[in-house]
Amino acid sequence: MKPAIIIHGGAKTIAADKAKANTEGCLAAVQVGWEILQQGGNAKDAVEAAIRVLESDPTFNASVGGSMNTDGKVFLDAAMMESEHLNWGGVAVVNRIAHPISVARKILEDRSYLLVGEGAELFAAKQGCEMCEPNSLIIAEQQEQWQQQQVPCDRPETVGCVALDRYGHLAAGTSTGGLEFQPVGRVGDTAIVGCGLYADSRGACSTTGDGESVIPVVLAKTAVDLLSGETASMDGNVVCHPEVAAERAIEVLKQRVEGEAGCIVLDRHGRIGWAYNSQDMAIAYMTTDLQQPVVCLQKDQHLAKTI
Ligand code: GLY
Repeated sequence: MKPAIIIHGGAKTIAADKAKANTEGCLAAVQVGWEILQQGGNAKDAVEAAIRVLESDPTFNASVGGSMNTDGKVFLDAAMMESEHLNWGGVAVVNRIAHPISVARKILEDRSYLLVGEGAELFAAKQGCEMCEPNSLIIAEQQEQWQQQQVPCDRPETVGCVALDRYGHLAAGTSTGGLEFQPVGRVGDTAIVGCGLYADSRGACSTTGDGESVIPVVLAKTAVDLLSGETASMDGNVVCHPEVAAERAIEVLKQRVEGEAGCIVLDRHGRIGWAYNSQDMAIAYMTTDLQQPVVCLQKDQHLAKTI
């Protein structure tokens, strides 16, 4: 099987002065994940490594640089799912874990469940995961904005990655700092299987956007179901290109709820698609058919280059 990987740095609006940082950050993440796949690593390894790069980069709303809630604190959610056994793991409402995606991965390997708050942090510490001080997640720019009590800015939110390895297995991962000025204790879609991410034998999907809109349309599962055509077939038969599935999934969201969202989709053949209804969505992908990774912040730019 030919490996493939696609990552996203979040839907919404990318300010002009942040375009370069978004481009470079997405490129760095996809390169790290691709290197792992090239060396025979599995899809889970690639997804975890790529998302760790995005979590470490304050450009993105995941781990350091995450959105601040109404109390002026950053809380994080993340999850991972794999296609072979449908194992999954998630963490939510944590702020002492430096890389929530790695803890989600450990939970996935241990036993599928969603751990929140103190329980997740205790699990992470016991597993020897990298812990952090809650204040280390806050960056000056976010703090200034929060102190000025501005209306929530339209900053991209949530990062994610889906990968197919040479063994034919898929994995999806998603990580977020949630929404700006979110209520204390809020949990969005990111750590909820079917909403923020999904992976099975047909394909894998990671989403981004307003959790309140993503959850009711079960966006990630909807996109993967659409790979099988209009009626979901669980026989692993993929009849719809991920590009079409992603577009249709966002169409479902637009028709049923308000709000902005996006998704990246990879099918079991390594074909890639993505769609969003916000102004921007940074993505980067790499396949064996390409000489170098493709990165773009708006799909129109990408289409213009490939026509
Ligand atoms: N998509 C992230 C959130 O709504 O929390």
